[in-house]
Amino acid sequence: MPDRVFVFDTTLRDGEQSPGVRLSMSQKLEIGEALAQLGVDIIEAGFPISSPGDFEAVNTLAKALKDVQVCGLTRAREKDIDVAGEALKPASNPRIHTGLGVSDNHLQFKLKMSREEALETGVKAVKHAKRYTDNIEYFMEDSGRADRSYVYKVVEEVIKAGATTINVPDTTGYTLPMEYRDLMAGIRENVPNIDKAVLSCHCHNDLGMATANTLAGVIGGARQVEVTVNGIGERAGNTALEEVAMAFVIREDLFNVQTRIQCKNLLAISRLVSHYTGMMVQRNKAVVGANAYAHSSGIHQDGVLKERSTYEIIDPAMVGAEKSEIILTARSGRHGLKHRLAEMGFNFNEDRFEEIYSKFIEVADKKTEVLDDDLKELVTTR
Ligand code: KIV
Ligand code: ZN
Repeated sequence: MPDRVFVFDTTLRDGEQSPGVRLSMSQKLEIGEALAQLGVDIIEAGFPISSPGDFEAVNTLAKALKDVQVCGLTRAREKDIDVAGEALKPASNPRIHTGLGVSDNHLQFKLKMSREEALETGVKAVKHAKRYTDNIEYFMEDSGRADRSYVYKVVEEVIKAGATTINVPDTTGYTLPMEYRDLMAGIRENVPNIDKAVLSCHCHNDLGMATANTLAGVIGGARQVEVTVNGIGERAGNTALEEVAMAFVIREDLFNVQTRIQCKNLLAISRLVSHYTGMMVQRNKAVVGANAYAHSSGIHQDGVLKERSTYEIIDPAMVGAEKSEIILTARSGRHGLKHRLAEMGFNFNEDRFEEIYSKFIEVADKKTEVLDDDLKELVTTR
C-alpha cells in the first residue's frame, strides 16, 4: 500500500511573494478553488498580520473552501497568531503555520537571539496557537544551514508543545539533494517523539535544486511537500507543484507514494496562475512548458512518430496537454515533414515528395520554424 504524501500549496503566500506579483482577492479565490479541485490538501492563503489583503484572503478562502485545509502564516508572536486565529475562524480545518529561524546566521543577524531564547519563543508560540487549533505546523527557517543537533532539539520540543507538522525549510536554497535527504532522515532517527508529527519539505530554488531536494526529502522520510504552481516564489522560487506531482507518478517504482493531485488539471492551473501573476512560464519548463512535448530534431521526430515513448516519458494527455507536437525546422527529417503534410491532407509520390523536401530545407534554413502556411505555399508552387 503506497504511503500518503500531503501536498501543501503556498502559491498564494510564498508564490505571491515573487517580486512584481500582486493578486486581487477575486483572483486569489479563483486560484484557491482551482487548487482545491486539483486535489491539494492544504492551501496557505496568506500571512494575515502582514496586510488587510492577506487577512481577507485567508478569511475568504477559509469561508469558501470546505474540503481542503486552509492555513495562515505567522511569526512566533502572540499577536500574529491571534490575527491568524481570527482570519481562520470560518475554516473547517484551520492550520496555523508558525515558527522562526534555527540557523546561527538567522539567530545572530536577524533574530538577535540565543539558541535557547529562540527555542523558548517557538515553544511558547506553539502553545499559544493551540488556543485556535490542534492543526499546528512549525517552521524552522533556514534549516538547510543550521546545526543538526539544535534542529533535533527544536523538533522534539515543539512536538511536545503540540506541533503536528514540522516544516524543514531550505529557505536559502543552499542544500544539495543528499544533504536534504540526510537532514530528514537524521530528524527521523534522532528525535524520539517524531512519530507524532509529519515532516514537511519546503525548498527554494537558488541553486536550481528545489524539486530535487523535495524529492530527496521524501526519500528521507518527509510526508508533506510544500510547493507552488509553476515554482513561483521568493527570488528563484519554490518547488514546482507540477514537477513533484509528476515525479511521483512517473517514478512510482521508486517513491511508492500517493497524493490526491488530479494531474490532468496541471496545465490548466499553470496557465491560470501564469495569467494572473503575469509570470511567464519558460518554454522549456518541465511538465507545463510550451516545448515540454514538442520535438524538433529529425532523429527525435522519427522516433516519436514510430513510438511516442522513445522520447517522451510523460504522455501529454496526463497533464491536460493536447498531444505531442512535431515542430518543423531545418533539423527535421523526411518522416516529420511527411507526417505533417499527411495531417494537412497532402500525400505525394516519392519523386514529388523529394522535390518538396528540398524546397522545405531551403525555407527551413532561413526560418526558425516552418509553419503550415509556409508548407501550403511550398506544395502549391512548382
Ligand atoms: O522559506 C521559508 O523558510 C519560508 C517559511 C516562512 C516557511 O517560507
Ligand atoms: Zn519559503
